[in-house]
Amino acid sequence: AATRRHDWDIGYQFTSPDCVRKLAVTINGHTPGPTIRAVQGDTIVVAVKNSLLTENVAIHWHGIRQIGTPWADGTEGVTQCPILPGDTFTYTFVVDRPGTYMYHAHYGMQRSAGLNGMIVVEVPPGGQPEPFAYDKDHTVLLNDWWHKSTYEQAAGLASVPMVWVGEPQSLLINGRGRFVNCSSAPTTAASCNVSHPDCAPPVFAVVPGKTYRFRIASVTSLSALSFEIEGHEMTVVEADGHYVKPFVVKNLNIYSGETYSVLVTANQDPNRNYWLASNVVSRKPGTPTGTAILSYYGGRSSPRARPPTPPPAGPAWNDTAYRVRQSLATVAHPAHVVAPPVSSDRTILLLNTQNKIDGRIKWALNNVSFTLPHTPYLVAMKRGLLGAYDERPPPETYDHAGYDVYAVQKNPNATTSDGLYRLRFGSVVDVVLQNANMLGPNSSETHPWHLHGHDFWVLGYGAGRFDPAVHPATYNLKDPIMKNTVAVHPFGWTALRFRADNPGVWAFHCHIEAHFFMGMGVVFEEGVERVGELPPEIMGCGKTRGGH
Ligand code: C2O
Ligand code: CU
Repeated sequence: AATRRHDWDIGYQFTSPDCVRKLAVTINGHTPGPTIRAVQGDTIVVAVKNSLLTENVAIHWHGIRQIGTPWADGTEGVTQCPILPGDTFTYTFVVDRPGTYMYHAHYGMQRSAGLNGMIVVEVPPGGQPEPFAYDKDHTVLLNDWWHKSTYEQAAGLASVPMVWVGEPQSLLINGRGRFVNCSSAPTTAASCNVSHPDCAPPVFAVVPGKTYRFRIASVTSLSALSFEIEGHEMTVVEADGHYVKPFVVKNLNIYSGETYSVLVTANQDPNRNYWLASNVVSRKPGTPTGTAILSYYGGRSSPRARPPTPPPAGPAWNDTAYRVRQSLATVAHPAHVVAPPVSSDRTILLLNTQNKIDGRIKWALNNVSFTLPHTPYLVAMKRGLLGAYDERPPPETYDHAGYDVYAVQKNPNATTSDGLYRLRFGSVVDVVLQNANMLGPNSSETHPWHLHGHDFWVLGYGAGRFDPAVHPATYNLKDPIMKNTVAVHPFGWTALRFRADNPGVWAFHCHIEAHFFMGMGVVFEEGVERVGELPPEIMGCGKTRGGH
């Protein structure tokens, strides 16, 4: 196994990803950042220098479990103090499984400012072969993009009355998109330049007859997306680093924090180009289709030529059943089933609601809205720092017997807490995420929940209220897929199971940037006493100051 070293300088840079100039947070001047390519078993070393003059940084390696290196998870407030302006922090971790992953900032709403990218881990020579074959791969990083700064967005969310971020102005593919209406840009006309090289459409070139693996990741801040390649079928073969029993789709639903690989054979007329398209689903779209171009080598069309057809508009945004079908179709490849434990030691049932606290709109789990502590849990626990976080654990369940998930919650009040769930090391934990109606009538949206430090088995999905006496009997214990991010569909529930066997402290949250910022998350601790000596560089904030 190799050690792959990267030196990253994090800085501000004016970019024009959708032809509109905006200040972005970049890696070595680029957004998205470079794709990290490695082979299973490699050690990745990333020296991150924070050259932002007025802003902290932390970077999370999304989908990498950090076994033995919980301090490298990059979650500000959970596993480390932020990297201060001028400081360098070196992340060192092993990529222990092949697959498609991503990285992104995990400090405030910084991910949305452009600090994100992909991680591709290949099977080593002589390693266990993948259950499919292809000629070449392409990476596709999907994002949504606002013209307003992330600071304005965050300040708006925390204000009374709240200023909601609104729908994105553009959808990006590999960091490029096109704002359709330059003349109405909220900035001066000069800052919108349709011939800016930053917004030239990405071109994916294919050789007729060859099969391509498209590795697709979504780092969107808000949007659930439907992705398609015009005129081409996609066979889904990987989800979050796990092999899927192959199934064919025309549209791939992908939620923030998810990755998929699809196989596509270049078997269409090579003399024209085709659209790659991403469209918003699950929320009423206010954003035009994000596009890129698929072009055949040797065809008569020039690679950058606009396809002769309009970009595909995607499925109906509110067709939930269509998306649930994809969730249910995503099961483990028959030759790669990892059987889940047949029962669990503990069940945590989390009701997801929108609430009001001190006139502010928040998200809460069992009426507790999460706040990050100023001192990272990992340091506070290992060093026995007292009073760093609320020692009372948040509630394990809610009063579900009479709860109507289709109605507006009668009392929208909630409390805030930075308490966490402490899990017995090695125990098997079930989490059931219960979706519900929001503050307004007839509204419920999709929440993609992401677990750090683990993969979980996806045991089941259901519509309406989860009944602990009935629904566990319907779980798929035969061939559930393992994932690190899973959708909780509108008015529905999702059940997952994991083994609490990775010593550390791990965030579990909705991957919608604004939702986590508004409290939609929890934290798990397990086996923290087994964690080795912490690197002193993760300290320097809160109660960790002067602690050593
Ligand atoms: Cu990709 Cu805690 O996030
Ligand atoms: Cu959410």
